[in-house]
Amino acid sequence: MKHDFSHLPDIFARHQQRPEALIMILQDIQKEYRYLPCEALQETAKALNVPLSKVFSVATFYNAFSLNPKGKNVVRICVGTACHIRGAALIRDQIENALSIKAGQTTPDMEFSIEVVACVGACAMAPVVIVNEQYHGSVKPSNAKRLVKGGK
Ligand code: FES
Repeated sequence: MKHDFSHLPDIFARHQQRPEALIMILQDIQKEYRYLPCEALQETAKALNVPLSKVFSVATFYNAFSLNPKGKNVVRICVGTACHIRGAALIRDQIENALSIKAGQTTPDMEFSIEVVACVGACAMAPVVIVNEQYHGSVKPSNAKRLVKGGK
């Protein structure tokens, strides 16, 4: 995937170019590109003067970071215990069918990614689906498809 990396110097300039800034820089890169492109990690290592292995170990340690491109819209299906008991598996099936991809995948047009997540702390609303940053509670399998079709 081709990217315009001309924003990287701006991102680096927003932070002190010291190893302690690594996580914040990775957060900004993830926000900009919706994942952490390999080239950006290489540039980060250079800018902070830290080994690339260190940058990769931080990038792979935190779940918030992704090394794979994500869709414009990220659909997170909670599969924690409360959501599981209230039908998360069925909701997952409906959403996967609606988008013709499996959890962990991104649509070829880069519009949607599906992720499964553990409890997101909203068990009273179970089952929960988060489309981008918006929480949807008490989701029914019958309206799960509508969530992603209207989730743009
Ligand atoms: S188990 Fe889904 S929000 Fe807690």
